[in-house]
Amino acid sequence: MNIATVILAAGQGSRMKSDLPKVLHKIAGAPMLWHTMQCAAQIEAEKTIVVVGHGGEATSDAALEYSADAKIVWQVEQNGTGHAVQQAKNDLEGFEGDVVVLYGDTPFVKPETLQKMLAARDRNSLVVLGFEAANPGGYGRLQMNGDSLEAILEAKDCTPEQLRITFCNSGVICAPASLLFSLLEDVGNDNANGEVYLTDIIAIARARDLPCTAITCSEAETLGVNSRQNLAQAEAVFQQNARTAAMENGVTLTAPDTVHFAFDTHIGRDTIIEPNVFFGLEVTIESGATIRAFSHLEGCHVARNCVVGPYARLRPGAELDLGAKVGNFVEIKAAQIEAGAKVNHLSYVGDARVGEGSNIGAGTIFCNYDGVNKHHTEIGKRVFIGSNSALVAPVSIADDGFVATGSVVTADVPEGALAIARARLVIKPGLGKRMMDRLKAAKAAKK
Ligand code: UD1
Ligand code: CA
Repeated sequence: MNIATVILAAGQGSRMKSDLPKVLHKIAGAPMLWHTMQCAAQIEAEKTIVVVGHGGEATSDAALEYSADAKIVWQVEQNGTGHAVQQAKNDLEGFEGDVVVLYGDTPFVKPETLQKMLAARDRNSLVVLGFEAANPGGYGRLQMNGDSLEAILEAKDCTPEQLRITFCNSGVICAPASLLFSLLEDVGNDNANGEVYLTDIIAIARARDLPCTAITCSEAETLGVNSRQNLAQAEAVFQQNARTAAMENGVTLTAPDTVHFAFDTHIGRDTIIEPNVFFGLEVTIESGATIRAFSHLEGCHVARNCVVGPYARLRPGAELDLGAKVGNFVEIKAAQIEAGAKVNHLSYVGDARVGEGSNIGAGTIFCNYDGVNKHHTEIGKRVFIGSNSALVAPVSIADDGFVATGSVVTADVPEGALAIARARLVIKPGLGKRMMDRLKAAKAAKK
């Protein structure tokens, strides 16, 4: 069956007290909206329509960054969830299939759950996703009669008796496109908020004798983000799920609660992640690698059997090949560290390639920036860079080259050559002690 999703993301989210549209606040490093869009992608929605309004330009940019195929529609005035869905009507004209309405601020709905809803469409015209609320508060209440969903009652319009219902509306609704828009035509705004409620389509469908039902999911899955507190809760839920998933996939986490994953972190099996490791977006770690404590990684790729950290920082474009080693207080940016190469201590490697088996000594700095432009450094195979060297890019050191400790390298070093650029060492026998004695005597004389 063809599926289209309509993601509602036009609301202001005033309780966030933010200049940023609510759906752009981040969970696991990615805008909340991306989490919902990922769910849409996972059910292979043919069309994803994002309804934007408040902060619509930024929301639209973020949606298109996630998927250039997303369709953006504007809801200029926020007249309610039903009105928001109506904005997608033109784009779904003639669409033969089901529409799943999702919320941009409800990031954790699982694709499996949507599949269950779509399956239940067999015998029902409308399927709503519900949950048993511990604290039903302002949620819409699902009025059931056996398996039949009769109506959704918005809390503000409920009688005290109706408010006692704990089976609540998550907001997710699934219906054939043509029926959805036909039902919406009959929705008015005669309610406490004066809004066009999407939820009203249930009672209208029942009045037309169409079968409706509700599928149940856990409350955690429909967690909606309305405040900074909710955002923190959502982050915690994501992290808990990501840690469990990593361990289920064969990753060792020595202290799971201290490891922070991103939206899209990929980690192979038999990897070991030590305590207090942070993953930003776009990180892939292959099997057998070890990420030691207190390392910070983003936008990087770590191949099999690499060792990173403790206290290492891999920035975007860091590419570690088989068995490479990056040690403590080392920062790598836009650089490839080829198989077996080592950068073990206190170095900055930016805009570079370090060839197979090379060794970058402690405190080496790749001087990639001249204040205006960035330049590349090319290090061949089996090169040895002595400690405390500065490589001033653009520069290259060919295979088997050797840079003596403390050198500032400003010209290319040919294959197998030794480069040494520092003041010559002078030894003066006995002078050290004589100087010290003179200083001590001068101090004693003052007293
Ligand atoms: C809505 C449901 C309620 C459900 C709850 C679950 C309605 C009328 N009520 O209530 O039954 O229990 O969600 O969280 O649907 N939005 C727009 N344009 C609008 C209004 C809203 O795009 O004009 C978007 C919001 O950005 C948000 C979503 O729709 O992503 C839900 O809107 P919100 O105002 O939060 O609805 P609730 O009152 O929470
Ligand atoms: Ca809400």
